[in-house]
Amino acid sequence: MPAKRNDVSRRQFLQGVAVAAASFTGLNACGGEDDAVTQATPEGGGATPTGTTAATTPAATATETAAAAGGEPFTLGLMVPLSGTYASLGRDMQQGFQLYLDQHDGMLGGREVEVVSAETEANPEAGLRVARRLIEEDQVAVATGIVSSAVALGVKDVFGEAGTPLIITNAGANMVNREPTLPNLFRTSFTNRQPNFALGQWAATEFEGLAVAGIAPDYAAGQEHLQGFVDGFGSDVVVRLFPPFGTTSDYQPFLTEIQQSGAEAVFAFFAGGEAITFVQQYTDFGLVDSLPLIGPGFLTDDGILEQQGAAAMGIRTALHYSPLLDNETNKAFDGAYRDAHDSPATTYAMQSYDAAQLIDMALTDNDVDTSDAAAFSEALASVQTIPSPRGEFSLEAEVHDPIQPIYLREVQEVEGGMGNVVIEDLGEFPPLPEA
Ligand code: PHB
Repeated sequence: MPAKRNDVSRRQFLQGVAVAAASFTGLNACGGEDDAVTQATPEGGGATPTGTTAATTPAATATETAAAAGGEPFTLGLMVPLSGTYASLGRDMQQGFQLYLDQHDGMLGGREVEVVSAETEANPEAGLRVARRLIEEDQVAVATGIVSSAVALGVKDVFGEAGTPLIITNAGANMVNREPTLPNLFRTSFTNRQPNFALGQWAATEFEGLAVAGIAPDYAAGQEHLQGFVDGFGSDVVVRLFPPFGTTSDYQPFLTEIQQSGAEAVFAFFAGGEAITFVQQYTDFGLVDSLPLIGPGFLTDDGILEQQGAAAMGIRTALHYSPLLDNETNKAFDGAYRDAHDSPATTYAMQSYDAAQLIDMALTDNDVDTSDAAAFSEALASVQTIPSPRGEFSLEAEVHDPIQPIYLREVQEVEGGMGNVVIEDLGEFPPLPEA
């Protein structure tokens, strides 16, 4: 159950977020790099934990014990896009993280947390810049976030050299923590292959013998999503289309190519603003009745369903989450998120919530000095399973990627609007085949 809100912490956090977004607008205009990182939630040492009501969950009970023991405050970097195609995903990640803090009196593992929100766009250079700044200037004890695979791949080495723990809460780049494997890199989201391989296996029966076209944005994640589907499907798609990422607003030429390819069904990966545009244009173009559209669940994420409107109806996708999942942890999470934001929880919010949960568990179970990066990483690695709204899941040894169930979902009318109704549990999937 949600604990009583720490309103001071929440207000300060949201102010920080607003300033981060605003300062980035200026940064875009002048091309400078200052102010891309903004202080967001200093508890300032003056805030007193208020929430004895938090003691209704085991984590909160332990948190209170550790708080009584007086853990040192620490600073956390939250790396999110706040502009461009993935801006809404970044906001969801901030909200998911903040929800966990609100439920735990602004503390993780009994320590007050100062959150520094940092704008990465979906741009590796911006990501690199803020990663360096978070590590060197803000001296964060841990960083979370990152939506884009390109950003994750771009900042990996910086975190590798510094040793600062990084918990990726979205970017699915398959190999991000392989060759080399960093002991300080964790992921509470997915690999790009994971939901798509599951979807491909399902489609091999559902669409047996059909010609399928594939389309995804032209960057690392787009290619991996499509390949994951092909691997699961067991045969190639008839055409692979990669529209430019972040700049395509008219998908008509690509839809024409799909129509001419002889495809009988279409696999598409898009997210955020591009998923809204693509799904609407797919319907407007008239393909929706003749060529069923499938993809990973980001295509119809609950944060964008309302904007997609009727065009999204009936689309089947695979993912490790839906806010309609029927388990008690999810009902409590989705309920609290709806109370706070008047909209269903999203996959991005959930992945970020779980990163907060992972840190909380690690610091509650291990008496570590958070300024000791190696000890912090070891504490994170010691967490066996995370009681997530997606269902309990674990992180693979060494590589720290999630091993988790994937669900087939279908957009249907539900009470209060549209939702991703879970129509099949496709089973548990490893991050990559060799895991
Ligand atoms: C990625 O770049 O890895 C990515 C971005 C957005 C998503 C999923 C994956 O929704």
